[in-house]
Amino acid sequence: MSIVYDRQENLLTLTTENTGYQMCIDELGILRHLHYGSRTGAQDMSYQIIDFDYAFSGNPIQYRRERNFSLDILPQEYTSFGVGDFRLNSVAVINADGSRAAQFHYVSHEIRKGKYAIPELPASYDNGDEAETLIVTLRDEVTGLTVKLHYGVFEKLDIITRYAEICNDGKAPVTLEKAASLCLDLPHGNWDLMHFWGKHAMERQPERQPIGHCITTVGSTRGTSSHQQNPFIIVCDHEATEDHGDCYGMMLAYSGGFKAELENSQINSVRAVMGIDDTYFSWKLEPGQSFHTPEVILSFADGLTALSHNYHHFIRHNVCRGKHHLEKRPVLINNWEATYFDLNEDKMYALAKEAAALGIDQFVLDDGWFGARYDDNAGLGDWFVNYDKLPNGLDSLIEKINGLGMKFGIWVEPEMVNEDSDLYRAHPDWALSAPDRTPTFGRNQLVLDMSNKDVVDYLYGCLSTLLKEHNIAYIKWDFNRSVCDVYSHALPADRQGEVSHRFVLGLYNLLDRLTTEFPDVLFEGCSGGGGRFDAGMLYYTPQIWLSDDTDAIERLIIQGGTSYGYPVSTMGAHVSAAPNHQTGRTTPINTRGIVAMSGAFGYELDLTKLPESDKEAIRIQIQRYHQDEVLIHQGSYYRLTDVTKGYYTAWQIVSEDKSKSLVNLVITSPQPNPEPLHIRFKGLDPNANYHIEESDKVISGAALMNGGYTYPVMHGDYPAMQLHLSVRS
Ligand code: DGJ
Repeated sequence: MSIVYDRQENLLTLTTENTGYQMCIDELGILRHLHYGSRTGAQDMSYQIIDFDYAFSGNPIQYRRERNFSLDILPQEYTSFGVGDFRLNSVAVINADGSRAAQFHYVSHEIRKGKYAIPELPASYDNGDEAETLIVTLRDEVTGLTVKLHYGVFEKLDIITRYAEICNDGKAPVTLEKAASLCLDLPHGNWDLMHFWGKHAMERQPERQPIGHCITTVGSTRGTSSHQQNPFIIVCDHEATEDHGDCYGMMLAYSGGFKAELENSQINSVRAVMGIDDTYFSWKLEPGQSFHTPEVILSFADGLTALSHNYHHFIRHNVCRGKHHLEKRPVLINNWEATYFDLNEDKMYALAKEAAALGIDQFVLDDGWFGARYDDNAGLGDWFVNYDKLPNGLDSLIEKINGLGMKFGIWVEPEMVNEDSDLYRAHPDWALSAPDRTPTFGRNQLVLDMSNKDVVDYLYGCLSTLLKEHNIAYIKWDFNRSVCDVYSHALPADRQGEVSHRFVLGLYNLLDRLTTEFPDVLFEGCSGGGGRFDAGMLYYTPQIWLSDDTDAIERLIIQGGTSYGYPVSTMGAHVSAAPNHQTGRTTPINTRGIVAMSGAFGYELDLTKLPESDKEAIRIQIQRYHQDEVLIHQGSYYRLTDVTKGYYTAWQIVSEDKSKSLVNLVITSPQPNPEPLHIRFKGLDPNANYHIEESDKVISGAALMNGGYTYPVMHGDYPAMQLHLSVRS
């Protein structure tokens, strides 16, 4: 049993293979947080909270208690509001009488088999007997506002999930101005924050910094999880490395704006609060209504690698769903960087023909096939074929591509509209825009009001017709701008603070309907590259286009940064042209292939213009990828170098039974007088002997891990090398 209630001490203890989490209900009914970290068994961890005189100037004492009691220093599971805990709060409320207070006390708890689901929101799932659920109910007696804290405990996976259901069990409306998914008071320590910042074409750059005595916020106010920050943070011991040290992961399964806050308080204790972005948020709860926060996926591990492994496994098996998430993925050819908007049937067929000859499995027709879409000024919203570019319609092209033995996929950007579109001319009020103000354009487009059910139903109609009428095996779902002018013409003034979250609920509703009705279709997420790369989207789309930067050297950082939280099977990665269209850099085809192969693999360049030598290299790459795909997507991933430092990057993948491994190395900047490189491998069986295909050497796992491997000197522009290891008996 992973959840145990100790009636005597009023303790609730959650246990996983390597971690323990504990809370207690104190004599006042406050739900105190006692521990999260390495396992501490059934030990009552409340001994850590000792009494001390706290009643000096400025510090509040609640409940007319002794000088040694204050909520302001007490570790708690989910805070009250406005009653003297001045640290980060879990909720903010405005009651019907205008007061801003909520004081939560324990009411009851319940332990259930299995994993909870969350109405209207993505949530991780249990594959049968993997999880237990704890629900602790807290209530504010004055207003009846009730919080049901949900905990999902995945014992074998070292994962604990959390979300809060906030119900108005009172008689008057309550307005929520903040509703966090997580409040976590960490043990005393010397903590660093790792977060993943970026911009368009430069997503998820890892950055690590000490948590100072201040509030540090990582978040997005852009209506999407964003290129600029990712809803995944790591709090780790200042000394923690890839291999050792206390590491906490906090990942929000949400695709809209978010906020992760960390406060190191006056008593040197760090509180983490994570949830939807509250900058423009307010949500009116009428009596009887509930609000559900998105889910936070927590993990604790010894070392960053072990933490990544927990998330990789969990996202692959317990977040991504459907027919494709554990299946081999098709190798794609996407026409975007080959032709951009300048597409027609002949060009597409020529590209597909070349791709089929090289062994590529699926053709993807990107932006430009619909409406009056000749550039990015027009057409979004009109999901009907452009007969000027494709005079014989979609089916003619699809049939020809299918005739080559390839599947067909197509690009859409459903949540957007151009002013120059039939949809906008018919429904200008379906775009988000504040009354009497000129809306802000991004890439010449406006954002549809996904909080409006009519809009969602309309899009469902268009997309389901597209999928029903044509033989489409794959959808690339794009989203190319940040959201502002957040105003819905379908909601009253006092509900406008709900629009951002209702937008995300509308998106999830649409994705849910389509992925349920078309289970055979593989959906790939995208947002101007990787601007919506999060566990919420991964619930519907098991792979997401990682970045619009396809330069292999830049990709090493983007893929490496993403790997802290997300598995390679989720990362759409393509070989593109040289010189690269984003950076102008020329890298060898071998290097481009090796980098893109650590992902959901594909090509995105004009194959018809390639020299025969590149085509031959591609043929070999595809054969190799098919041989290695199971290892790459299902193996354990090790970062052998820090992707932000040094002149080379190396990473390794080891099969679950340790019988196979793939080690990848890329030289990222040329060195004068280069010396041989020595790298220690990881994750191998120390007692096994490994044959290294490329050097035809047999070396023991212990030697490769403790002594290392010496690479030959590699000259030239950005050379790369793959080593295939297999156990030799
Ligand atoms: C942004 C995507 O990331 C690209 O791959 C491409 O699909 C363009 N949008 C099309 O407009």
